[in-house]
Order: sequence, then structure tokens, then C-alpha cells
Amino acid sequence: MKDTIEIKPNVHWIGSVDPELRIFDDLFPTERGTSYNSYLIRGKDKIAVIDTVKEKRSEEFLAKVKSLVGKEKVDYIIVNHAEPDHSGSLAAMLEQYPAATVVSTQAAKTFLGNLVHREFPSQVVKDGDTIDLGGARLRFIMAPYLHWPDTMFTLLEEEGILFTCDAFGTHYSGDSLFNDELHDFTPDMHFYFDCIVRPFKDKVISAINKIRNERIVIICPSHGPVIRSDPGRYVAFYEEWAKPVAGPKKVAILYLSPHGNTEKMARAVARGAALPGIEVGIYHINHLSVSEIRDHLEEADALIFGTPTINRDIPKPMWDVLAYLSTVKLKTNIGAAFGSYGWSGEACKMVEDRLKGLNFKLPVPFVRAPFNPRAEVLKQCEELGKAIADELVVNA
Ligand SMILES: Cc1cc2nc3c(=O)[nH]c(=O)nc-3n(C[C@H](O)[C@H](O)[C@H](O)COP(=O)(O)O)c2cc1C
Ligand SMILES: [Fe+2]
Ligand SMILES: [Fe+2]
Repeated sequence: MKDTIEIKPNVHWIGSVDPELRIFDDLFPTERGTSYNSYLIRGKDKIAVIDTVKEKRSEEFLAKVKSLVGKEKVDYIIVNHAEPDHSGSLAAMLEQYPAATVVSTQAAKTFLGNLVHREFPSQVVKDGDTIDLGGARLRFIMAPYLHWPDTMFTLLEEEGILFTCDAFGTHYSGDSLFNDELHDFTPDMHFYFDCIVRPFKDKVISAINKIRNERIVIICPSHGPVIRSDPGRYVAFYEEWAKPVAGPKKVAILYLSPHGNTEKMARAVARGAALPGIEVGIYHINHLSVSEIRDHLEEADALIFGTPTINRDIPKPMWDVLAYLSTVKLKTNIGAAFGSYGWSGEACKMVEDRLKGLNFKLPVPFVRAPFNPRAEVLKQCEELGKAIADELVVNA
């Protein structure tokens, strides 16, 4: 896809494809590459560009803009989200079109100031504000935290085209731009959701509620396929993936225990937590896939971590679990720690520090046992489990 692509007579794709990319932003695997989508809208009076592309693609991008704009000028650059995969060519655009007004949320304007280090003509917009390009009216829909605080959607009202930036995106670089000309990429879209949008499920629902009554004919995200066939199906996917988990109150105990001592403690914690109306899940983390671990973290109403101290530290598999806490939409902020140790026993306090760093409440202090837990320590573990379950019953 070297050229520009017509989506509607007055709307063109002017993005850049990156089919070889295998890790996005040093963070997420991209088995099928990605694309940085940008769009040019021509009204009767004015021209707007929606988002730009990564800086390394500036030259190609500017050539595409020029091929459509010719000697005319670009009036507006709409920045739906300031992250450099979409704003990376903004500086180059402003060099070329210094009079273009950068339209964004206040947060994106601040972020852009810290990214491009230069003055630019700017217009800050709020929910419902519009810009008329002449027979083509753009309306801005605030969509904060999809996935940065700065994010908004732009709706081209006449055509019913919604520009959503990262939301509804996919790291996918196929032979066509359009969803109806590609094989089913929804697993890739779901993976992208899991990597980027999942911690903000509640914001997804808020954004969907805002667009529910709009006429949406095409969704133009900033990565991957343009969704021109059955966009409602993809909105429904997002709603399904983002919906809150229902069910009984759950205490999840996640533990690791190379020699079995922490496991004995885990069983005692589970016994204590088994109050009426409370479902207790006890999981050896090495027996779970990453996806199962993330599901358990997300579904729990309280999280209890059991870990031995190994080399004065929390062992890596448990650090990984603690790292996943920020990759999901947690229901809970109630936690506790326990574990066996031999001589120094640092791990439990480290778990507590991690949880405190994520604003967890720790209703009971950690319980730790030197090597094989004695009967009185197992009793303390039961009490710890009960105290956590009590919190849920009180807050039910
Ligand atoms: C490789 C290794 C390193 C360890 N390093 C520490 C340590 O730095 N500090 C400590 O208190 N205990 C240390 N221990 C002892 C364990 O924490 C102790 O054996 C504990 O009971 C293991 O719990 P588990 O039975 O649940 O695996 C270490 C044990 C192993 C096997
Ligand atoms: Fe982003
Ligand atoms: Fe992005």
C-alpha cells in the first residue's frame, strides 16, 4: 500500500504500513506487523488531516499529503491522541504547513508541547464541538483513556465515518485496507484490545455509550483495517470484551511454592477465606497460562499472593504476576501476602510494597513462616484468609 487509498470521494487514507514490525513500541508482539493510519478529508472550503504517522515514515507521509493537496494548504491537523506513533510526523507537517491549526484536547495539546518542543497554531476542543470544512462537518467526541488521558474520537457527520485512533485498531498489515477484503482478523483485534485497551474497560463502555446513537457507517482506526462492513459488529465485540465480570464475590489466592511450604500456608488461607457466599480460588501460578492469570486477577474481589523468598527476592514468576496487575482492569484493591522463607524472608514485604504502590488496601499484615509452617502460623494464615473474606462480606 504505497499510495493513497480512497475511502469516500472526499476521504483518503494517507497512512503507512509496517508489515515487518514484530514488536510494537518495545512492548507488544505484532505477528502481522502494523500500520499507522492517517486520513485526509477534503471539504468544499477546507482540508483536514486526521493524525499523522510514526516519525520514521514522515517523508512517505508528506509525499502522500502533497499528492492530494497539491498547491493548496492543509487547514487543520486533528490529533485524536498525541502518542508518537500518531504524532511523530506532526513536526514535519508543521514545517510544510505552518499555518495549519492543530486541533486536540487540552491534554493532547500539553503532551504535544512536551513532544515537539515548538509553538503551533492550536485549537482545543471539547465534547460536541464541531469544525465545518464546507459540507463536511467534524464533531469531536471525548474518549479519555482510550488509552491515554488525551484521547478523543472525530466523527465526520455527513458520511458517518468515525475516526477512533487506537480504539478499534489492530496491529495488522494485510493486502487490503478494508475489513471486507480481509480474512477474519478479530483474534488479532482481540489481542490488541488485551494489550492496549484492557486496563480501561470502563472507559470503553463510556465511549461506546457516547457513540451508541450515532450513525456509524465506517470506523477508521489508526492501526490496521478500516471497518466499512458491519461496524456495529466490531462495536459489539468491544462491548463484549469490556463488559464487567458478574458473579459471586471471589477471593483469589495465587501462590508459588518450590518446596511445598508456601503451599501449606495457601491451603490454610483458603480454609479461612471460605465464608458463606465467598468463592475461593487457589492457584499455583506455574500451572496457569498468562491469559488465565490475567483473567483471575481481573475477576477477583480480593487478591492474596503467596511466595517464598528466593535469593532475597520474590521469584520471577511471581514478579511477573505482580506486573500483570497493571495490564488488566482490576475489580479490587484489597490484597494480602504470605509465604515461607529460610533466613532473610524479604518477599512478603516486597509484595506488600508492590500492592501499596498500586493503591491497594492491606487489611491484614503479611504472615510469613520460617521453612515448614508450624501449627500456630497456619492458624494465622487461616485468620488472614478470614479477615480478607470479611472485608468482602462487609462491603457486599
Ligand atoms: C535457590 C533458593 C534461594 C533461597 N534464598 C533465600 C533467601 O535469600 N532468603 C530466605 O529467607 N530464604 C531463601 N531460601 C529459602 C526458601 O525461602 C525456603 O526454603 C522456603 O521455605 C521455600 O518455600 P516453599 O517451600 O514454599 O518453596 C531460598 C531457597 C532456595 C531454594
Ligand atoms: Fe496509543
Ligand atoms: Fe497507536
